[in-house]
Amino acid sequence: MDSLILRGGNPLEGEIPISGSKNATLPLLAAALLAPGFYRFSNVPKLKDVRTMSNLLRILGAKVDEVDHELLIDTSHATHVEAPYELVKTMRASFYVLGALLGRHGEARVSLPGGCAWGPRPVDLHLKGLEALGAKLDLDAGYVVASALPLRGATFEFGISSVGASCNVLMAAVRAEGTTVLKNIALEPEVTQLANFLNRMGAKISGIGTRDLTIQGVAHLQPADAAMIPDRIETGSYICAVGMTTGKVRLTNTDPHELPSVIDKARQAGLTIETGADWISVERRGGALSAFDITTDTYPGFPTDLQAPFMALATLAEGQSRITATIYTDRFTHVAELARLGAQIHMDGNSAVVTGVPKLTGAPVMSTDLRASVCLVLAGLVAQR
Ligand code: EPU
Repeated sequence: MDSLILRGGNPLEGEIPISGSKNATLPLLAAALLAPGFYRFSNVPKLKDVRTMSNLLRILGAKVDEVDHELLIDTSHATHVEAPYELVKTMRASFYVLGALLGRHGEARVSLPGGCAWGPRPVDLHLKGLEALGAKLDLDAGYVVASALPLRGATFEFGISSVGASCNVLMAAVRAEGTTVLKNIALEPEVTQLANFLNRMGAKISGIGTRDLTIQGVAHLQPADAAMIPDRIETGSYICAVGMTTGKVRLTNTDPHELPSVIDKARQAGLTIETGADWISVERRGGALSAFDITTDTYPGFPTDLQAPFMALATLAEGQSRITATIYTDRFTHVAELARLGAQIHMDGNSAVVTGVPKLTGAPVMSTDLRASVCLVLAGLVAQR
């Protein structure tokens, strides 16, 4: 089993360049299936999920080479249409290939992702959106078997704002005949990057950056290049790290405009934050942290992916913080682990009520998903023996 050993206690000082966004990279890799040819993606983070998506593209017939932080992808011979369970079960975003395969080939056989480490994560909106575009979907031995000859433009409203469903349906819609109107599209920057990228491939999407997109279907798309936007969740995680350890760190290659609610909460907690066009400086020089309340929300609200890291920060903040989860109401596997380090947290429905303690104490802990792991690493940075 992989493990990390942390010896806490050092203030953080220095400069950290922020990686390209994981959640922006994954849909763009799927989008490369839409048009045969050569793509160059830069500022790609070196992560297991990106390697998993690259492997999925290879299974579908693409050639993918990783050179430093670039991915060189050739989808000229990506003619296969089946995304196997063995891969999809290891990373839910693999499901993005459903919309892209339908858009390019008019057929797909993609394993359903199943649950995740912290609970059920339905994909009903992905499926309903594709059906609205005329796709015929059947379930066969855990696989969605989809066909659409052809996809037809339609109006579809997402009942809930969903990043994944927005990406998946958008990738099919750009190839649907006629006009599609997608209402209540997710506003997360990762969805916006996908829509802009699709337009560079020749798609005709208007309304980008608003809740409603209008898409004029096109018969042909061509490859395009892209540089990934900065990872706003990684940025927010480092902000918490400085908040916990004290010190001063300059985060570069990032975009403060994508973190309004996060910067706001960090300032409420007592951190000094300055921003420039593509950098954030975060500082804490001693003094107590102050308690804060968070309610997770869709963008530009407070991101669910930073709920766990900010909970680590709240464990040391003077007073009582209330952290309420609305996107994933059961995303709290880190609570019991933080308690092993001496954190005082009790659950009140879908809220964690955190009473700050003067110190955390080191202990073995178990991590579940990525963000819960970050939260425990943050706690480990300051845990004493
Ligand atoms: N939902 C449905 N039906 C659907 C899809 C979503 O009910 O068909 C619900 C979900 O249960 C949730 C809400 O809609 O309550 C929003 O979920 P969303 O679809 O936006 O999440 P996602 O696309 O599955 C992406 C990120 C997650 C991030 C969420 C929310 C990727 C690859 N994943 O997931 O990132 O938490 O958006 O912002 O982009 C992570 O990076 O650690 C991570 C989990």
